[in-house]
Amino acid sequence: MPTPSGPSPATWPLVVAPGQPQKPASSPGCSTGSPPTGTPPTQPAGTIRYATPSPAANPLPQGTCLEIGSGTGQFTCLLASVFATVISVDLSEEMLRQAAGRSPARVRADASALPVADASIAAVAAIDMLLFPTETARVLAPDGVLLWINQLGQDGPLYLPAEDVAVALPGHWMATEAEAGWGTWACMRRTH
Ligand SMILES: C[S@@+](CC[C@H](N)C(=O)[O-])C[C@H]1O[C@@H](n2cnc3c(N)ncnc32)[C@H](O)[C@@H]1O
Repeated sequence: MPTPSGPSPATWPLVVAPGQPQKPASSPGCSTGSPPTGTPPTQPAGTIRYATPSPAANPLPQGTCLEIGSGTGQFTCLLASVFATVISVDLSEEMLRQAAGRSPARVRADASALPVADASIAAVAAIDMLLFPTETARVLAPDGVLLWINQLGQDGPLYLPAEDVAVALPGHWMATEAEAGWGTWACMRRTH
């Protein structure tokens, strides 16, 4: 596991205050669906487990975000508030049909064979999605990021800790990883 070095990491925008359930920043017309019901976990939301230095020193790259396994598009609007272009990719035509009101750019494709040029994408977002490490590494630009997000954190059926994601990805990667409410997220970057 990478060892933290340098200044203490600041929290990232998706991290919420301790003790609060995850509630994404609101954007006009952005429907993110209902949050889980029940009592939120008591762990301090946004606990950084290991991290690169301050995100101010590592801003998210500008460009196109490829949302793989986009489903009904409940998070597309949130991604669109950060990235200039979001392309929703899903294998299911029905999912893409249901996402029509939320995502203007939808592509039916298998995430194991993305119809995208090498090194052309600023961010791959995988939210409650399987990991496709080879294709993710292929399509990301050298400074591109993988956003690996699990709404139910370790209780989610597709959860993988960032350490395991980093090992699965070709090459060497670092992660900023945090818990937020019920969920976990990690921002993964190539180190070289
Ligand atoms: C658990 S859902 C998550 C949907 C969405 N990301 C969300 O959080 O609401 C997983 C999605 O991945 C899609 N999917 C599964 N395998 C896929 C593949 N090989 N390529 C593209 N999409 C895939 C499914 O159709 C489904 O919409």
